[in-house]
Amino acid sequence: MASSIVEKFYSMEYGPAPEDASEVNKWLDAHKRSFGHYIDGAWTQVSGSSFETRNPATGEVLAKIATADASDVDRAVKAARAALPGWQALTGHQRARYLYAFARQVQKHARRLAVLETLDNGKSIRESRDIDIPLVARHFYHHAGWAQLLDEEFPGYTSVGVVGQIIPWNFPLLMFAWKVAPALAAGNTVVIKPAEFTPLSALALAEIAHEIGLPKGVLNVINGDGKTGAAIVEHADIDKIAFTGSTEVGRIIRKATAKTSKKLSLELGGKSPFIVFDDADLDSAVEGLVDGIWFNQGQVCCAGSRLLVQERVAEKLYDKIRARMETLRVGSPLDKAIDIGAIVDQVQYDRIKGLVETGVKEGATCWQPEVTMPEKGLFFKPTLLTNVHPSSTVAQEEIFGPVLVSMTFRTPAEAVELANNTTYGLAACIWSENINVALDVAAQVKAGVVWVNATNLFDAACGFGGYRESGYGREGGKEGMYEYLVPVHAERKTAAKTLPEPVIDQPEGFDEERSAAVEFGIDRTVKLYIGGKQARPDSGYSYPVYDRDGQLVGEAPLGNRKDIRNAVEAARNISAKWAKTTAHGRAQILYYIAENMVQRRAEIVAKLAAFVGPEQAAIELDYGVERTFAYAAWADKFEGSVHNPPMRMVTLAMKEAIGTVGILCPDDAPLLGFLSLVLPAIAMGNAVVAVPSERCATLMSDLYQVFDTSDLPGGVVNIVAGKASELGKTLAEHDDIDAIWSFRDEAASAMVKLGSIGNLKQVWTNEGRSIDWFDTTKAEGRYFLRHATQIKNIWVPYGE
Ligand code: NAI
Repeated sequence: MASSIVEKFYSMEYGPAPEDASEVNKWLDAHKRSFGHYIDGAWTQVSGSSFETRNPATGEVLAKIATADASDVDRAVKAARAALPGWQALTGHQRARYLYAFARQVQKHARRLAVLETLDNGKSIRESRDIDIPLVARHFYHHAGWAQLLDEEFPGYTSVGVVGQIIPWNFPLLMFAWKVAPALAAGNTVVIKPAEFTPLSALALAEIAHEIGLPKGVLNVINGDGKTGAAIVEHADIDKIAFTGSTEVGRIIRKATAKTSKKLSLELGGKSPFIVFDDADLDSAVEGLVDGIWFNQGQVCCAGSRLLVQERVAEKLYDKIRARMETLRVGSPLDKAIDIGAIVDQVQYDRIKGLVETGVKEGATCWQPEVTMPEKGLFFKPTLLTNVHPSSTVAQEEIFGPVLVSMTFRTPAEAVELANNTTYGLAACIWSENINVALDVAAQVKAGVVWVNATNLFDAACGFGGYRESGYGREGGKEGMYEYLVPVHAERKTAAKTLPEPVIDQPEGFDEERSAAVEFGIDRTVKLYIGGKQARPDSGYSYPVYDRDGQLVGEAPLGNRKDIRNAVEAARNISAKWAKTTAHGRAQILYYIAENMVQRRAEIVAKLAAFVGPEQAAIELDYGVERTFAYAAWADKFEGSVHNPPMRMVTLAMKEAIGTVGILCPDDAPLLGFLSLVLPAIAMGNAVVAVPSERCATLMSDLYQVFDTSDLPGGVVNIVAGKASELGKTLAEHDDIDAIWSFRDEAASAMVKLGSIGNLKQVWTNEGRSIDWFDTTKAEGRYFLRHATQIKNIWVPYGE
């Protein structure tokens, strides 16, 4: 140990600089180190089952915590339900005052909250003090603003109701703020459960809620593990679930809520690429990595855990990384000069260790620096795995620890391919001094957040959330507010007018002659429409279609799973190209579609009249033309925005197509319903596989001829007629479908939600409620466009 100041100057050794934990200990002692739940504005006693929460750096028990069972959950939900009307009745300004008070209290108690977080979680005090707490306060301030502006910025929307929220242990305070602030700002009441490893800071925030006089029942905090979480998810009187945690539990929650109309947002895991091009400032990239993978011990959903480095500079970069890793300081999280603290729990420690061993078994080279490690506690050395194969376990699975996995690439195209070679899509970092390359790659990477020459930056104004199996929904920004709001018209609880399933008799052979011979204007064989071509159904069967008087009007092709698969393939093949088509180009095609519909007006109206009568048929066509014009207009006007986070950054919130969308169309208004769903999807650059109203499927022959003559590229719209329930299930379960929409009955809604679990595709349904397709305020516009897009936030630095 260096003794003189001069020696210290040269050795740069630090002495210990521990943060004082006495205030937190006093606070814990004042609570007798025992915490119940905060329900209906009061604390419950710890009776019955409980668990201990520990300091992972020392193993010391910090407090005893009550476990909520189903009856505690029920009491919390009842309190939230009872508080809802009063909370909703407040003005936005009144709610803003509470959120503002919350922010002020967080700032006033910053030090105590930071130390408490560090003790319970094991994260370094530097991070909880300088990153977590300021972001928590910022989140409450920002959402005080949304509360204030609610009426003006979200006209026609209302709060969802009672919200159940389940948060993880990696950022306990921050996740609490990310969940609670927007929910309260939008006028919801909340039941929230912190993770069982880290309950303390949420309880401290409940105390703050009490201090600021938040009306009782508006915020309820209950404790427990996955069982308590499941009881929240399953409670019948909760209107929305917001979850952050593992993809595995995300799937369980999707399944558990499938048969309900609960709104759902999921912020799940990631395996985010950290792409370094050969022209990058390598020293900055290394510092970026320190924040990317060693921040919070790597227990970060958006950690830059997959280093992709351009081959030419790979060895040079590895040398720099190793040199930097030698200087990382692992130790007591309360020490202010520490970089890496403790892993949250033995379970997580073992998981990280196990995954590193698997990586080595699968051929990776493991390197760890010779850093001094604390003698006890759950500390894991920063680790670099090189020679990793893209398909190996450690390249695919979320390790959630201080472990960097590295691969190389040669060209930008290869970098994109590797970056997207994952089921996740949460975040990405791109390091290059060439802004053209960086932004081009940013556009191609499938991730909800992209940092250019930066990493792990967050701000309340910039939405955060994933693509693909990293979940759906956003937290922060305006888009985050929509997660806690519903259009007033979508609240109605009237059942959708889905007619009973047609009895498709033992199908007869697909008889073109018979089909062509049927009168009522059906003068040609109706086929499926796949990849821009008319296709015979794989089954070789057709089914009879009747008019509203029960008279046979023709036969529709009976599509099956194979046809859906072909249609999905056709959609997938064109989707990237269609998404890149300029918005103006897409608008031109939509105008052309409208023009051709007008040309064929008499024909289409005559056919439609058989199903809905002449009057509705004419109106449907005319509204359909207008709607087509509307989405042609929207194509280049539903734009993103630019945020100005409080760093030298601009954040481009880009609205991107989701990819391939499966759509189950309604029976009521068979033409207008179809157009109202398909048009916003394609206007935003998605490719569609639509299942039309099975009762009126013969109508589609005119529509696809309209598409054919309107320059719509083959595969952008595919139409597969048949039994909606069967085809819908295949679509919902298909891994190459990125979003599934159902506008049929409740059973169809539940079916597509269940089917979506495999790749966690986005789901949008009418929850079995009918929509007035003739009411432009309800059946057209931003509400539809928002579901047809997902927001990618690209952070771009400026200045030297
Ligand atoms: P987890 O997903 O089990 O826990 C997150 C939260 O969900 C906790 O509050 C937990 O009590 C609750 N929960 C657990 N099972 C539930 C259920 N069936 N229904 C409702 N709520 C339930 O995550 P865990 O086990 O703590 O960590 C395992 C792995 O998950 C980590 O190694 C990491 O890979 C990933 N993870 C990802 C996070 C992220 O932010 N993306 C956060 C935490 C974990």
